[in-house]
Amino acid sequence: MDLCIIGSGYVGLVTGACFAEVGHHVICVDNDQRKVDMLLAGKIPIYEPGLDELVHRNVGAKRLRFTTSTQEGVDASQVVFIAVPTPPQPDGSVDMTFIEKVAREISSALKPGQYRVIVDKSTVPVNTGERVAATIRRYNPAAEFDVVSNPEFLREGCAVPDLMKPDRIVVGTSSARATDVMQRVYAPFKAPVLVTDVNSAELIKHAANSFLSLKISYINAVSAICEASGADVELVADGIGMDRRIGRQFLNAGLGYGGSCFPKDVKAFIAIADELGVPFTLLKEVERINATQLDRFLKKLRDSLWVLREKKIAVWGLTFKPDTDDVRNSLAIDLVNRLVAEGAHVTAYDPKGMEKAIEWKLIPSSVKLAKTPLEAATGAEALVLATEWKEFVNQDLAAVKVAMHTPLVFDGRNLFDPATMKQLGFQYYGIGRQAAK
Ligand code: UDX
Repeated sequence: MDLCIIGSGYVGLVTGACFAEVGHHVICVDNDQRKVDMLLAGKIPIYEPGLDELVHRNVGAKRLRFTTSTQEGVDASQVVFIAVPTPPQPDGSVDMTFIEKVAREISSALKPGQYRVIVDKSTVPVNTGERVAATIRRYNPAAEFDVVSNPEFLREGCAVPDLMKPDRIVVGTSSARATDVMQRVYAPFKAPVLVTDVNSAELIKHAANSFLSLKISYINAVSAICEASGADVELVADGIGMDRRIGRQFLNAGLGYGGSCFPKDVKAFIAIADELGVPFTLLKEVERINATQLDRFLKKLRDSLWVLREKKIAVWGLTFKPDTDDVRNSLAIDLVNRLVAEGAHVTAYDPKGMEKAIEWKLIPSSVKLAKTPLEAATGAEALVLATEWKEFVNQDLAAVKVAMHTPLVFDGRNLFDPATMKQLGFQYYGIGRQAAK
């Protein structure tokens, strides 16, 4: 099929590449000339495992191309996906400026007698589909189209496998014609397709991400109880996770959830519910627990080091989770900033995130960046693990211990085994675990 994706960010680019991989002809549109030029020159603007190869293979096979022209994309495609950002506004509600603008652009690109399925992939508040349809109709009353909601559930860092082998595909539409088109788009993926009305599909995205955030805050709240009572949150998570109705996934206690989706989507769902007159106070508590995890963690550092001013602290990890270069809304970045604000001398290392952290000025220039984890730890009075990259487990920890000034490890992601750390001679503090004496 001929497909167009408007917006070549994380979601748009990976979706376009995966659609091309299963045999569709895909044209990716982006209004950022610089980004399109990069893609045309064979450079991938984001780090995502497997994406580089996928894009090159499909560009080579002439199934994937890039343009800045919405008209060209709409002309060439039966289905037009919208994958532009829906950033949060200061009050937590969703900024719909980009979606509205793209709706107008599509509207003026639609030609009479040319039926198109307009699919919203961006995360949007419930009732957006109705507004997109009304906008297109207002500017182009003769346009023949259906609007579909098809939320994307991919995770950064495993976006390609998530897209190629999804748990489910949600298609929100009440048009039989659009349903048929969407079934054909997704047939090669051999995944279960749930067809709903537009509003339900839109709600599924916010409800799913808020539920996963709730799971994380739940185990983080339990981690505080574990610390107070002498239990171990990892064992508690294993024990409750073995109940298949609960599941072990997303029960990893840590510094909390970050990234571009969870914090934004929980806030948005709260704002949507407020606007609908049905306040979702449970989610406010989810947010509160998430915010206090970092406070509790910093308290542990202070309890051991007394004052943080002038302390040399090594931070391993800057990205909001492993296997991505994304440092936006990262708790590791918040942690570095809080340490610096308390006067600590921070040396950080991250396998992929250092460049963007500097480029986007997310950390103060006083933070030193090391070339290796060992270099960061050298001379440090405490080592803080903020992101659970595999590279950190594979470190020669005995050498790290020797290089440190005082061997204190604060593990914000429960990456290390407390008994092993104790054996190596570290004073180890995890989340929801008893400090190894
Ligand atoms: C998430 C959703 O998983 C995905 O379905 C949606 O489309 C976009 O949002 P992503 O933001 O890429 O994906 O990351 P994810 O792997 O879900 O992690 C989000 C945050 O939660 C990270 O900061 C991670 O460290 C944290 N997390 C995750 C935990 O603290 N504990 C866990 O058990 C799982």
